[in-house]
Amino acid sequence: PDGRNQGGMNGMGGMMNHGAVPSLEPSEGVRELTIPPLMEPQQGQDFDYEVVAQQGSTEFFEGVQTATYGYNGDLLGPTLKLEQGERTEVKITNALDEPTTFHWHGLEVPGDIDGGPHGEIQPGESRIITLEADQPEATLWYHPHVHGNTAQQVFKGLSGMLLIDEAGTDSGLPDEYGVDDIPLIFQDRLFDENQQLNYGRLMDNDGTLGDISMINGTLDPKLTVAKPVMRFRILNGSNARNYTFRLSNGGDFTQVASDGGLLDEPVETDSLTLAASERAEIVIDFSEFNGQDIAIVNEEGVELLPFEVALDDSPADSMDMQAAGEPFLSEQEQEMPVTKKIELFGMMEMVTINGKKFDMDRIDLRQEQGVTEVWEVTNEPDMMGGMIHPFHIHGTQFKIISRDGKPPEAHEQGFKDTVLVEPDETVKLLVTFPEKGVFVYHCHILEHEDNGMMGQIEVY
Ligand code: C2O
Ligand code: CU
Ligand code: CU
Repeated sequence: PDGRNQGGMNGMGGMMNHGAVPSLEPSEGVRELTIPPLMEPQQGQDFDYEVVAQQGSTEFFEGVQTATYGYNGDLLGPTLKLEQGERTEVKITNALDEPTTFHWHGLEVPGDIDGGPHGEIQPGESRIITLEADQPEATLWYHPHVHGNTAQQVFKGLSGMLLIDEAGTDSGLPDEYGVDDIPLIFQDRLFDENQQLNYGRLMDNDGTLGDISMINGTLDPKLTVAKPVMRFRILNGSNARNYTFRLSNGGDFTQVASDGGLLDEPVETDSLTLAASERAEIVIDFSEFNGQDIAIVNEEGVELLPFEVALDDSPADSMDMQAAGEPFLSEQEQEMPVTKKIELFGMMEMVTINGKKFDMDRIDLRQEQGVTEVWEVTNEPDMMGGMIHPFHIHGTQFKIISRDGKPPEAHEQGFKDTVLVEPDETVKLLVTFPEKGVFVYHCHILEHEDNGMMGQIEVY
């Protein structure tokens, strides 16, 4: 099977395989897609924003309350927008009855505020941290990272978008949040017979895969499109599922950004593959689709997000992204020697990195602040052939130098914090940490992370 399929028990005598992926139900298009609101700044406080992890309930199914977790609400969280270069004080509060952390995925912040497994906030406790985004305009996200319990907390609803806004530059991209600049958090979920998210019962050590698609927490969503040119910031917020997105009519769209910011050059494409935690920004030009049925579909052709195209007569923005003058990777960068080797291995609870499981008391690697090194990451196949592992590093946005010796394709010529590694594949990464501290790197299949497929690096 192609490595994009993955799954857990196939029900046949408990045999382990990587093949069984439940199909997603198509969206019936009955509810307008929820757009997470922008986080409201605090007035008259000594902090700018407050983010509270809390319990709540959500009516996914009419007349049924499902227990969920959310930030500042019942499910998911508001979108936090940081201005590049500005210091933002954020109060983080744990109102759950279990420990949690607040991790800013993709943000280059010092280790002590990164919110990895070291950053536990106990129930009822708060902390004020300073977030400073000294990095390009990008679509990042935030989620919990408490060791052994990340998958369950994310599954119940703890995730939010984190945007970096670059004041004074105009990429020409649509940027009216919620109007022509839309976040899309794709997640798959399983509900039990009482329409509850019963994580314990459904948990699978190779990653919990649902059969219901949820976008921004909405089941059966549709999106009414009024502007001809729309920008979508797509996050694969699933615990484990990989997606390949297309348009239902097979049409092209433009990918403009990867995890950490704008691509070197925009890429015309008809498909977009994202492993868990990867992001991309795409632009769809709807001007030719007025009155047509068009949807975002997955690799099986299942409609995940139908659009209702009812264009107003605002003129189409002209998008003229500047192509970069220099090549994405300099010759010198391409030829740097490998200094760190990472071997991803295993499945179920037997997952390891370089033969070891995570130990919070062990530092696995060290790297000097601001010094660029080449990491070689290999996905060692197992006896079942292996599976994709999305490899993520905290505290850095890296560049992909090569995949099996070949230069990255155009859609990966941009900053990344997570890289999809196929079984038997070797990717080389150019990694620099701008801040000091202890950071983790791990597989972003959350159940693999919880099972110890994670290591620690000290940046000194
Ligand atoms: Cu999305 Cu270790 O993080
Ligand atoms: Cu992260
Ligand atoms: Cu993995």
